[in-house]
Amino acid sequence: MSRFYVTTPIYYVNDVPHLGTAYTTIAADALRRFHLLVGDDTFMLTGTDEHGLKIERQAKGEGMTPKAFVDKMSEPFRVAWPKLGVEQDRFIRTTEPAHQAFVQELWKKVEANGDLYEGSYEDWYCVGCESFKTEKELLPGNVCPVHLKPVEKVKEETYFFRLSKWEKPLLDFYARHPNFIKPESRRNEVLSFVEGGLRDLSVSRTSFSWGVPVPGNPKHIMYVWFDALANYMSAVSTGPEARFWPKSGGPKGDVVHLMGKDILRFHAVYWPAFLLAAGFKEDELPSQIYAHGFLTVDGMKMSKSLRNAVDPIRLATELGTDVLRYHLMRAINFGQDGDFDHAALIERYNADLGKNLGNLLSRTLGLCTKLTEGKTPAMGPKNDLDHEIIGGVLENLETARTAWNAIEPHRALEATWAISALANQYVDRAAPWASAKNGDHERVGTTLAVLLEVLKIISVAMWPVLPEKSREMRAQLGLPPVVPHLDQDGWPVEFSPRAGGEALFPTGPLFPTFDKDAEKAILEKLSPKMNPKIDETNETANVEPKIEDGAASPRADRAPDTQPSPKLETVTYDHFALTELKVGIVRSCEKVPKKDKLLKLMVDLGELQDRQIVAGLALSFQPEQLVGKKVVVVANLLPRDFGKGLVSHGMLLATGPSESLTLATVDGDVPAGARLK
Ligand code: ME8
Ligand code: MG
Repeated sequence: MSRFYVTTPIYYVNDVPHLGTAYTTIAADALRRFHLLVGDDTFMLTGTDEHGLKIERQAKGEGMTPKAFVDKMSEPFRVAWPKLGVEQDRFIRTTEPAHQAFVQELWKKVEANGDLYEGSYEDWYCVGCESFKTEKELLPGNVCPVHLKPVEKVKEETYFFRLSKWEKPLLDFYARHPNFIKPESRRNEVLSFVEGGLRDLSVSRTSFSWGVPVPGNPKHIMYVWFDALANYMSAVSTGPEARFWPKSGGPKGDVVHLMGKDILRFHAVYWPAFLLAAGFKEDELPSQIYAHGFLTVDGMKMSKSLRNAVDPIRLATELGTDVLRYHLMRAINFGQDGDFDHAALIERYNADLGKNLGNLLSRTLGLCTKLTEGKTPAMGPKNDLDHEIIGGVLENLETARTAWNAIEPHRALEATWAISALANQYVDRAAPWASAKNGDHERVGTTLAVLLEVLKIISVAMWPVLPEKSREMRAQLGLPPVVPHLDQDGWPVEFSPRAGGEALFPTGPLFPTFDKDAEKAILEKLSPKMNPKIDETNETANVEPKIEDGAASPRADRAPDTQPSPKLETVTYDHFALTELKVGIVRSCEKVPKKDKLLKLMVDLGELQDRQIVAGLALSFQPEQLVGKKVVVVANLLPRDFGKGLVSHGMLLATGPSESLTLATVDGDVPAGARLK
C-alpha cells in the first residue's frame, strides 16, 4: 500500500466557486478516487484562503468586518464541491486558530534558521495577485498583466525572507527530483526563473491588519502566501492525518499539489524554499507540483462576469454531475490550456456517453433480455474474436492506469472509452442474433458474457470520474456499487466473468442523447450570452487619459475610403473609449481550409493566452508574412462565429481592397497588449 495526499489551491473568498476552481477540485477528486480504487491510503484537501489585503478591502467595500465577510464567502465553497461529486477529506480555512498557530510555528523555525531579517522596501504590488511585480513584468501604465489593473506603489517596513540563499539549493533539488514540477514545459519555466536569480522576498506587512501576526512583533502581519501555502501542512499536522505528512523522518507517501499555472511560482519556488528554511529535508518536501492549464469558455477568457454566467453547479444540475466531470476531464488535456465549449460538450456527450458507452449497455442488456432470459449467460469456449477483444481491453486498462498515475485524466478516459468502442465493434462482428438464429446457444452465451464482463470492467475504470453513473450502470448489471478497500487493488487487470444465471435489471438509457431540437434548447439555456458590454476585465479603464476638449471632433483630413462608407455619426470620447484597441504580436498564422479569404492567427495581447483571430487577409498575405508583426487589434469586440467551431476573438485594423490590404501596425519597442489611445 502507498499513501496519497492530494491538494487543491485554497481559493480566495473574494469570488464564488466557478468553472476554473471547479476544474482543479474535480481533478483532485478524480485522482483521490483513483488512488482509493487501487487501495492507497488516500487524503484530499481543499479549502479557502481568507487573509490579505484583497480580502480586507473587499470586506470593507461590503461594509462588513473581515471575519464576517470570510465566514459568509467561505461557505459557498464548502457546499459547492460535494454537489460536483467531490468528497474532500478536509476543508481548511486559513482563519482557523489551529492553522494560524501552525503558521506562527513555521515562521519561528525559519527565523531561528536566520532566514528572516527586518528592512524596508518600496515596490510595485498587485493586490489581485497578492504579489510584488518588477517593472519588467508590468504593462505600460504600470498595469499588472494578469489582472489588467494598475499596481500600487507600496513603501513599508518589512521582514525579508532570504530567498536568494535558496537559489542554488532549489536548483539542486529540482535537478535531483526531475518529477517535482509537472508538466515538463512548466518545469522549464520555473528553472529559468530561478536560474535568472532570486531576490529576497518581503514576507510581512504593516499597513493593514487582516492576517496572521508575526510572533513577537504583532505590528507586522505575515505575507498572505506564507500563511496560505502552509495550509497543506497545517491541515495534516495533528491527529491520524499526520501520517500523510509526518513532520520528520519516516517513510511518507506522495504529496501532490494541483493548481493552475497562474500560481505555479509560489508553489514550486517559495513553498519549498520556506520549508527548507524551516529545516525540512529534501525528502520531506512535497513530491509533486502539478500546474494545469487555463480554461476559457466558448473561446472567451474567463472574466468575472463570465465566471458568474458559467456556474458549474448549474451545469451539473442541468446535465448531471458526472457528465460535467467527464467533459472537463476528457475534453481538455490536463496540463494544457483548453476551451470549455458548450456545443462541444453536447457533441461529446452524444458521441462518447450516449452513442458509445450508453448504447453498449442498452444493446447488451437488450440482447440478454431477448436471448438469455434477462440473466447473465455462462461463458463457454472462446474463439479468436473473443481473445482479440479481451487482449484489447486489457491493454487499454493498462494504458488508463498508467495515465492516472501520471496525472493524465484525459488519457485515462480516452483509453477507458476505447474499451467501450472495441466492445461496440465486437457486438457487430460477433452478431449474437445470428448465432441465436443458428441455434448456437453456447456462442450466444459466450458473446454476451464477454460483453457483460467488459461493461463490468468499464464500470470500475470510470468510477474515479463518473462515480454516480458507475453506480447506475452497475445497478442495471445487477452489481453492487464500487467500494474501494484499503490495501486491495481494485483496478481491473483480468477478465473474470460472472457465473451464469444472475439477474440483470435494464432500466433504460444511461445517457439519453440530445436530438437536434433538444440540443438547441439546452445550448440556449446554458451558453452565456456573448455580451458586447464590457465586463470587469476591462479594468484598464481607470488608467485611461482624461477626456480632453476637442478629442471627439471628427477629423477633416480623413482619407476617402476606397469604397463608399455610411456616414458616420459623431461620438463622444466616452463612446470611443469603449473600443479597446491594443497592440498584438502575431505568434502564428495559418490558412483556413476551404476558406479562400480567411487566415487564422494566434495573437499575443499580453494576456494569459494568445487570442485566436480569424481575418479576411488571405488574398493579400501569405501566413508566414504576418508572423512576428505588431498589429492593431480591436480587443473587446463581440466574438464572431465563422461556423464549425471557428470563432474570432478580435479584429485587426487594415485598409484597402481585400486583394491588396495594408495592415495597421505599430513600430518601436511596444509590448504586446499595450493599449492605443
Ligand atoms: O490563487 N482555468 O486563489 P484563487 C483553470 N488563494 N483553473 C482556474 C481558472 C481557469 N480559468 N481560474 C481559476 C489563489 N482556476 C490563492 C491560492 S494556494 C496556497 C493559494 C483555479 O481563488 C486554478 O487552480 O485565485 C488556479 O490556480 C486557482 O483556481 C486560483 O484560485
Ligand atoms: Mg486568482
